[in-house]
Amino acid sequence: MSNYHIKHLEEYYQVYRKSVREPENFWEEVAEEHFMWQKKWDNVLSWDFNKPEVKWFEGAELNITENCIDRHLATRGEKTAILFEPNDPKEPAEHITYKQLHERVNKFANVLKSQGITKGDRVCIYLPMIPELAISILACARIGAIHSVVFAGFSATALSTRINDSDCKMVVTSDGSYRGAKTIDLKGIVDEALESCPGVKTVLVAKRIHSDIQMKAGRDKWLQPLLDEASNACEIEVMKAEDPLFILYTSGSTGKPKGMVHTTAGYMVYTAYTFKNVFQYRENDVYWCTADIGWITGHSYIVYGPLANGATTLMFEGVPSYPDFGRFWDIVEKHKVNQFYTAPTAIRALAKQGTEVIEKHDLSSIKVLGSVGEPINEEAWHWYNDNIGKKKSPIVDTWWQTETGGIMITPIPFVTPTKPTYATLPFIGIQPALMDEEGNELKANQVDGRLCIKFPWPAMARTIWGNHQRYKDTYFSAYENKYFTGDGALRDEVGYYRITGRVDDVIIVSGHNLGTAPIEDAVNEHPAVAESAIVGFPHDVKGNALYGYVILKDVGESRDQDNLRKEINQIITEHIGPIAKLDKIQFTSGLPKTRSGKIMRRILRKIACKDTSNLGDTSTLLNPEVVKDIMDNVL
Ligand code: PRX
Repeated sequence: MSNYHIKHLEEYYQVYRKSVREPENFWEEVAEEHFMWQKKWDNVLSWDFNKPEVKWFEGAELNITENCIDRHLATRGEKTAILFEPNDPKEPAEHITYKQLHERVNKFANVLKSQGITKGDRVCIYLPMIPELAISILACARIGAIHSVVFAGFSATALSTRINDSDCKMVVTSDGSYRGAKTIDLKGIVDEALESCPGVKTVLVAKRIHSDIQMKAGRDKWLQPLLDEASNACEIEVMKAEDPLFILYTSGSTGKPKGMVHTTAGYMVYTAYTFKNVFQYRENDVYWCTADIGWITGHSYIVYGPLANGATTLMFEGVPSYPDFGRFWDIVEKHKVNQFYTAPTAIRALAKQGTEVIEKHDLSSIKVLGSVGEPINEEAWHWYNDNIGKKKSPIVDTWWQTETGGIMITPIPFVTPTKPTYATLPFIGIQPALMDEEGNELKANQVDGRLCIKFPWPAMARTIWGNHQRYKDTYFSAYENKYFTGDGALRDEVGYYRITGRVDDVIIVSGHNLGTAPIEDAVNEHPAVAESAIVGFPHDVKGNALYGYVILKDVGESRDQDNLRKEINQIITEHIGPIAKLDKIQFTSGLPKTRSGKIMRRILRKIACKDTSNLGDTSTLLNPEVVKDIMDNVL
């Protein structure tokens, strides 16, 4: 009997040791006992981090939707699979049972087929948080199409880059979306994006806001009439363990976004196993993750992980502030939510509202609280623990990445004693290492270094779509034979990990990963801009905010600086999306550079953080005089 569900600390250590000493036996037992396979594997694991190549459960055949839906039908057919809470609290919530989910996914899968989508085709999904989002993902997986979900807050340019990078044939979208009191013209954004996407042959449009939109003849089709005609039976496509399941884009420190490719069997096993343990999910619990499905958190812990366990997973369409800042607590009370998983940025924003709004609500159903996406500061941790968890619900501070597919370092609730700001211990099967800058592993406790993983885990991304070399260069070249996360971490005296943040040029703003290079590229598009550099600085709600240093082409000309700032942010909104807007823009005559012409971001970061006590030796710079100038004019 494998330890699918860990219930006390000794068991954690025992299972952890087994997972490290005999990883293949361990994962084989988990895979064997808890999933449906069309055919079992020939080999549990083969790997080579130098190539790099990783294969789990090779030779196995399966379909993930059979595991997430069909196998629950006999025992959980009438149980709610997806609980949809709409943006408007007056609109009734929708309970989609496993049986209904089965029918709706099958119908959708048949529509995809009728539109010419076959195994291996890429389908871009650009939808708000409505049931069709989860259903379209599952429909793709059912027929072996590779889904590429693009967060519906991204701009037309960002959308078209992603569509073209993975050569999507189809886009699934809606006539618009609700976001608090606002409506957003999603279809208009798709139309604009598709002007530069010749590969897209079909656009399926779900009706959400019932607005009067343009439909392009021959390309755009309303979804509902197609669904109405489709059969509710659809055989699964039998997939190989290592067939791609989805592509999900994440920012890199340079270049265009990276399409991380996740494959089928390992991803399923790991997301299901982590979900069960990290949230201690019990039958009849209502689990809620507030992330958007457009991010990895939603893929793994709204859709696949919960459904693979036959859980009830809540999907919320709206925002925490609509109609007021009590909305989250209103939903917790209304649906008696047992596990609540959110991001530190939301916690900080809600903490600002005071506790009065919380006191009006009964939060006694909550058993486990989760945090994800960025480091949680001590103040936010205590606020969450005291006011939401009432000091009785453990907080799981879960560290992981788009690339890792599932949670990597985390407490197990009621098992691992928590410690504010610490993600605590590696999850079962995860072998972290801290490295110094020379490439030596720091083996002792009470050290800090760069966080790597030494051994493969089932849910790791296998490549970057269309660019395996970049996958190798980004993750497997910094340290020999190790996956490099890009994060710094420290390990305390008992072996607990605390993530200290990115060590590269990725900045996490409100829990969203943003690479500086694409934002700089957007800023440089402004006709008045000669050069720019973007760094992060601490922000009390967003965690980090963006600070831009901008050199204008024509310094002589007097310009309305506030207007320029607005124009620059407008360009960023068009190229990437509003999440990447700069909080501060300082116009400067120069940027500090090394003699080889490299911008010294370390100095710019310190100035933006108003931490100029230790700038280091600036005399070796190409242009040391600009440092003082920048410091004198800091915003
Ligand atoms: O820096 C880490 C931070 O978020 C990065 C990954 O971002 P993304 O791929 O968008 O995935 C976010 C959701 C899994 C990491 O490299 N991060 C994520 N979780 C934590 C965190 N930093 C500190 N503590 C966490 N719990």
